Amino acid sequence: MDFTGEAMAPTVHVEVHGDRAALVERARDLVIEQIQTAIAARGVCYLALAGGSTPKPLYEALAQETLPWSCLHIFWGDERYVPIDHPDSNAGMAKAAWLDQVSIPAEQIYPVPTQAETPQAAADQYQTTLETVMGSAPIFDVVLLGMGDDGHTASLFPHTPALTVSDRWATVGNKGDNPRITFTVPLINQSRCVMFLVSGENKQTALKTVFAETADSNQYPSRLIQPQGELWWLLDQAAGAVL
Ligand code: 6PG
Repeated sequence: MDFTGEAMAPTVHVEVHGDRAALVERARDLVIEQIQTAIAARGVCYLALAGGSTPKPLYEALAQETLPWSCLHIFWGDERYVPIDHPDSNAGMAKAAWLDQVSIPAEQIYPVPTQAETPQAAADQYQTTLETVMGSAPIFDVVLLGMGDDGHTASLFPHTPALTVSDRWATVGNKGDNPRITFTVPLINQSRCVMFLVSGENKQTALKTVFAETADSNQYPSRLIQPQGELWWLLDQAAGAVL
């Protein structure tokens, strides 16, 4: 907070890379840097993963690295309300691409409990896990995010109730009739580093509006992400050509 008590603006970095492979390589190097910085400072790194397709090659690249895995704690910024072995599971994707190949202690990997009776119960249980593991004001070292072609991020979809939830760290998001569990805006915004990975021509329109001087953040929820720490936008040329 600055002297006005207003939230400090994030330090924003925007990089446009030639193609998706270059974006992934840069993201890998940045994530490793952030992990090492966190561990050097506090002996631990709290990392929240993104879902969707863009981050998968990043996870595969991280599986090839040698890092102090025992210092990492892994959460998910959002999850579909499906079992972990379902093809749509974000946790299932990350475990197959990365987490099952490295020695992060299983008890330090926290998939969203989608086996819970209802999406709300899953969100409530995830809230409890966040507070139990990270304390009453969880501060992530790195939150990885993607952005949909509608400007959503995590499972914070346009004009949904999740966008205004400010008294919880985890809540229910809705992609149409498909329930999801998602980090809330306040949780993401109290992170030390938020890293968007955005690839593909289909993201251009949303990206242009997210970066516009003024636009409706309820229509483009990625605009709501203004972390107190660093904000990185890693784009490929196909997506970032509009900027
Ligand atoms: C999810 C993600 C979602 C994703 C964007 C971009 O569960 O789908 O968390 O927010 O990051 O929709 O998805 P792509 O990377 O597949 O374009």
